[in-house]
Amino acid sequence: MRRTRILGTGSYLPKKSLTNDELAKEYKLETSDAWIRERTGIGNRHIAAPDEATSDMCLHASREALARAGVKPEELDLIIVGTISPDMPFPAAACFLQAKLGAGPRSAAFDVSAACAGSLFALSIADQYIKSGAAKRVLVVGAELLTRIVDWTDRGSCVLFGDAAGAIVLGPEEREGRGILSTHLHTDGTQTGILCIPGGGSARPFDQKVLDARDMLVKMNGREVYKVAVRSLEAVSREALEVNGLTTADVDHVVAHQANLRILEAVMKRMEIPLEKCHLNIEKVGNTSSASVPLTLDQAIRGGTLKDGDLILMMAIGGGMSWGSALLRWSEG
Ligand code: ACO
Repeated sequence: MRRTRILGTGSYLPKKSLTNDELAKEYKLETSDAWIRERTGIGNRHIAAPDEATSDMCLHASREALARAGVKPEELDLIIVGTISPDMPFPAAACFLQAKLGAGPRSAAFDVSAACAGSLFALSIADQYIKSGAAKRVLVVGAELLTRIVDWTDRGSCVLFGDAAGAIVLGPEEREGRGILSTHLHTDGTQTGILCIPGGGSARPFDQKVLDARDMLVKMNGREVYKVAVRSLEAVSREALEVNGLTTADVDHVVAHQANLRILEAVMKRMEIPLEKCHLNIEKVGNTSSASVPLTLDQAIRGGTLKDGDLILMMAIGGGMSWGSALLRWSEG
């Protein structure tokens, strides 16, 4: 059976980084390092420079991933960016990225909107294209510049996020028993209200009322998000293992969207997977939304911890609510 393989990864973190105390001072927030660490596990985050857009962050991560994959931009069939903070409402961030890469019109380029699950949704699309033979070289990017669209007067949400991009180049797997074993995606559209930007779209076009209510910025019901996240991430991870005849004991590495350390601790506990198997960077980078999975994967690869044949469980959840998992048998060399 034809499968998809990861050919190369790359990532990008903006130069500026702020500790919790520095963030509180710069944005005049009534909060503390202790509160943020205890509730979320976050100690630091990176913030894009004023002249940086999402596609600029994508470009850095993509160039790195393409170089490591040995793939030229013009060889790409598809460029898919998972993001909810594109350069502008349209065209897609992927279009700007294609131009900046000089990839040329051979490739189709589009964004996927699944919030923090965006890169996992993009990965699943890429996998279907490659498995079916419709594409040979696909660039998947998760990039988010959420610090531009969070409400800096809402201390319950703004302290969580950081800016970043992560990129993955995918192609056909040649080796038997290696590659992406499966991907599973789900959405519960009845939960749109617990994490969203309610204003500025077609339902409530941008006007003075939207501006006054700050409804063009991220709104989150943290407690509800927490509950849906723990339940859904466990369910979609179990679904992936069951379909492949595997158990949680077979998992060597977890590469998860890092929304919040407490969410991951709860999911790992429920699945009886030791937390040590979960690659963590939330303390240093915060919740990087769609960038989180590819960034974490890239850091895991750079850290030299993945061995040929290791089973990697990927999972993510974001506004929608939308969530998914991917199971991957690592192929080295
Ligand atoms: N610093 C200090 N105090 C704060 C802060 C802050 N940054 N934020 C909120 N508080 C206060 C509130 O004002 C409230 O005070 P009050 O009791 O006097 O009214 C108190 O802390 C408790 O507020 P809650 O919102 O109930 O805090 P909670 O314990 O639920 O923690 C949190 C908030 C961390 C967001 C939690 O709900 C959570 O972990 N939710 C998961 C959501 C999440 O991780 N989202 C990430 C984005 S979504 C995604 O990536 C999938």
